[in-house]
Amino acid sequence: MKSLQDKTIFITGANRGIGKSLVAASLKKGAKKIYAASRNLDKLPDFGDPRVVPVALDITRGDQVEHCANLAGDTEVLINNAGILEPGDILQGDTTMLRDNMETNYFSTLRMMQAFAPVLSRNAPAKLVNIVSIVAYSPLPSIAGYSAAKAALYSATLSSRIELAPHRVMVHAVNPGAIDTDMNAGSNWEMPSPDRIAPSILDAVEQGILDIVPDEMGQGMYAQWCENPEKLAKTFHDMYHTGK
Ligand SMILES: NC(=O)c1ccc[n+]([C@@H]2O[C@H](COP(=O)([O-])OP(=O)(O)OC[C@H]3O[C@@H](n4cnc5c(N)ncnc54)[C@H](OP(=O)(O)O)[C@@H]3O)[C@@H](O)[C@H]2O)c1
Repeated sequence: MKSLQDKTIFITGANRGIGKSLVAASLKKGAKKIYAASRNLDKLPDFGDPRVVPVALDITRGDQVEHCANLAGDTEVLINNAGILEPGDILQGDTTMLRDNMETNYFSTLRMMQAFAPVLSRNAPAKLVNIVSIVAYSPLPSIAGYSAAKAALYSATLSSRIELAPHRVMVHAVNPGAIDTDMNAGSNWEMPSPDRIAPSILDAVEQGILDIVPDEMGQGMYAQWCENPEKLAKTFHDMYHTGK
């Protein structure tokens, strides 16, 4: 699959942030249909386009995930975007925080991947796109539970990339740096808006780029990691200890 034009796309966490921007960007790409999933349909914006099909989905609910995989059996591109960030250090962080991060960002996203893999294989050529994070490459200790969950998701993304290749399902990891959404509320960083990065994500998906880093901050960090993983670890060490 080269273009997203005329494709059927399923996007989780579509009511705000990056997910909402991905719906708008998919419409601009000429998608045929977009399943816009939100755990509370009252929160889903009116995208003003009949190609958008609202779907109720809490990804932590296995029954709802199964229902969606049946309901949206024509999905050709799945974008696993829904996620949470519960901050906390690894040594002082309480177990609930660590488990919550894992439950949503890893186990529930993995459940989506498992439920939709047969759908995507049936509709191949197809795409599975996981919105992961730059902290999958190296952990930011102030958000250690989130980082661990995203590292686990990145690993699952790489495994499924190999597993699904013979089925003509291309698996992409999207690993942004900081983006200006509710997830970063109160942060002083200079961050791009989700509306700015969503079209870049979809362009990169169309180009077949497997590891996508859509923003400048993320690209700088990714370049450090590619050069030597210790370099990015040192950057995060300094951020943690200086608070900058
Ligand atoms: N912002 C960043 O800097 C950044 C950087 C790297 C990666 N990411 C990743 O990008 C993705 C989107 O984040 P965002 O920045 O757009 O954050 P956001 O504005 O906080 O949006 C998170 C979205 O995920 C949904 N969600 C959370 N738990 C869910 C669940 N159990 N079931 C279904 N939907 C659920 C939320 O729904 P509700 O409105 O119902 O809560 C919301 O739509 C996440 O996976 C995040 O980890 C973000």
